[in-house]
Amino acid sequence: MLIKFAVITVSDTCYQKEKEDKSGPALEKSILTLFPESTIFKKIVPDEVDVIEAELLELCSKQYNIVLTTGGTGFAKRDVTPEATKRVIEKEAPGISIAMVTRSLQSTDMAMLSRAVCGYRGQTLIINLPGSVRGAIECLSFIKGSLIHVVHLLIDKVEDIQRTHNHLQSPAPSKVKINQVAMRNRQSPYKMIEVEEALKLIFDNIQNLDQTEVIKVEDSLNRILAKDVYIPEPFPSFRASIKDGYTVKTEDGVGVRIVKNATAAGDDPKSNELRKGEVIRISTGAAVPYGADAVVQVEDTELVEYDDSCNEIKIRINVAPTLGQDIREVGSDIREGELVLSKFQNLRI
Ligand SMILES: *[C@@H]1O[C@H](CO)[C@@H](O)[C@H](O)[C@H]1NC(C)=O
Repeated sequence: MLIKFAVITVSDTCYQKEKEDKSGPALEKSILTLFPESTIFKKIVPDEVDVIEAELLELCSKQYNIVLTTGGTGFAKRDVTPEATKRVIEKEAPGISIAMVTRSLQSTDMAMLSRAVCGYRGQTLIINLPGSVRGAIECLSFIKGSLIHVVHLLIDKVEDIQRTHNHLQSPAPSKVKINQVAMRNRQSPYKMIEVEEALKLIFDNIQNLDQTEVIKVEDSLNRILAKDVYIPEPFPSFRASIKDGYTVKTEDGVGVRIVKNATAAGDDPKSNELRKGEVIRISTGAAVPYGADAVVQVEDTELVEYDDSCNEIKIRINVAPTLGQDIREVGSDIREGELVLSKFQNLRI
């Protein structure tokens, strides 16, 4: 059902365009988020009790469902929104104002100064919200849960009202104590319904799972996967170093070595080839050059010779390496073609 909202900003300065209306647009945005199926009429009026009254009367006669005012509820001389509202409503709904004040009091004592009035005329519910952006948005969020039900009550949508009542009166989550057989309900507390009706309830309340779409990975957070995902290549896809240190040939063992070059993450392993008696400096995550079969961590080495610009010329390997040490082999984390994400999985961080 489409809900017709009206947002009335009550402010002399906004009306005279001396100040920009911030609360009206903020409320509009918030309403569209909370109640996507709604239309919103917006207007700015001055703090004149007759003008506000006339505007509210007109909205009621046009059968708007919910009219939210923002501003004019304080103690300043010209704050008259509640007075205008009282003139228009046929019945007051103080519970809504109490809900807003009670919740607002949890963050500020100033909430007790609210003079907001809520009530209805015909099919139109009128609610006074505070004038500040934050206050208005917060108060709307405190009462959002019951607004649709009020709209149904006011326009007498019998079916929807019944559904809400049934929902409120249905038994609370099971209190059965499984091991106390004697105390269990002898009759089911739930009303028996036809299979057809049960299926309808289920299908009315689940989302259509046939609808799939192709989206970018970066937009996929909190989405549900439609298909299994298999990794197209092994991970890592190259032999990667686990440590900062030197790539070596194991057969060279301990001793002094010439530092041939240095390689970092992102470098092509083909651009370096290691020969006997040489080492190549390597950083964590970098591709291991051809010809190397182990990495010796920097802690197990010492500097022997360096040039004027402090570049390493020779180092000593102090601990004999073992074959494959500190190298993540191709596919050691995930083999090519392995299942990495399953159908219906919720994509979370
Ligand atoms: C030194 O390593 C870099 C990065 O891997 C590479 O581009 C360059 O060709 C290497 N130089 C020599 C002389 O091997």
